[in-house]
Amino acid sequence: MHILEGERVTKYFGGLAAVSEVSFQVDPGEVVGLIGPNGAGKTTLFNLISASLVPNSGVIRFKGKNITGMAPYHICRMGIGRTFQTVKIFPNLSVMENVRIGALFGCGGRISATEATRKAEELLEFVGLPQVSSTPAGSLTFANQKKLEVARALATQPEVLLLDEIMAGLNQTEIGQAMELVNRIRQSGVTIVMIEHVMKAIMNICDRIMVLHHGRKIAEGTPSEIAKSETVIEIYLGEANAAG
Ligand SMILES: Nc1ncnc2c1ncn2[C@@H]1O[C@H](COP(=O)(O)OP(=O)(O)O)[C@@H](O)[C@H]1O
Ligand SMILES: [Mg+2]
Repeated sequence: MHILEGERVTKYFGGLAAVSEVSFQVDPGEVVGLIGPNGAGKTTLFNLISASLVPNSGVIRFKGKNITGMAPYHICRMGIGRTFQTVKIFPNLSVMENVRIGALFGCGGRISATEATRKAEELLEFVGLPQVSSTPAGSLTFANQKKLEVARALATQPEVLLLDEIMAGLNQTEIGQAMELVNRIRQSGVTIVMIEHVMKAIMNICDRIMVLHHGRKIAEGTPSEIAKSETVIEIYLGEANAAG
């Protein structure tokens, strides 16, 4: 059974079909890349899966269960975690508190305060943020705020993790660390869907890639198939390469 699937998922903003008739399947343990030019509908698709938005039509299933239209907190507790392209940390709370919130919220309050602290410490270590746990999250560097987003999402104990451009704005060293982090998350058994413009990361990490353009899925395949696809090169990879 697919762990996550969408069937002709469509979302309009006014007259604009931001996501149009997109069907997709993700299998347990996979890392799936979601690429496409800016405005292609990638983040909107994540918002639909995590229920920040409700689709106009189509169905989204998690482990075979129709989750379309469920409340976001419910989806989170069922096992779908996410990060945000524009980091949405709580800037005035400490780094530790940001992750504890994920642990407490994601489990519906069934975890003790001590247990949440222990788990947050473990996850801060896991993402590479151990020494700064009492610092206000807003004072972290951009790269570290991205790590914090990942730690908070992991604290909700997701089975599927949606990563929205966690490498955007990072330098080469930081990208290397982020790639290594994604690999460790996968090794821990979490299924990953990642939106990313960093082609090196997408091509190295992903088992499969889906390409969106103007809200439609225009291609899907292994990294080598996608790298060879003339449509994808024309629409996206050519542009990404030109942009460096
Ligand atoms: N909340 C919103 N209200 C209106 N339009 C939106 C909203 N979110 C996204 N859009 C539009 O939908 C399209 C897809 O956006 P988005 O999903 O953010 O693309 P991507 O993540 O691929 O860059 C864009 O044209 C964007 O302007
Ligand atoms: Mg986006």
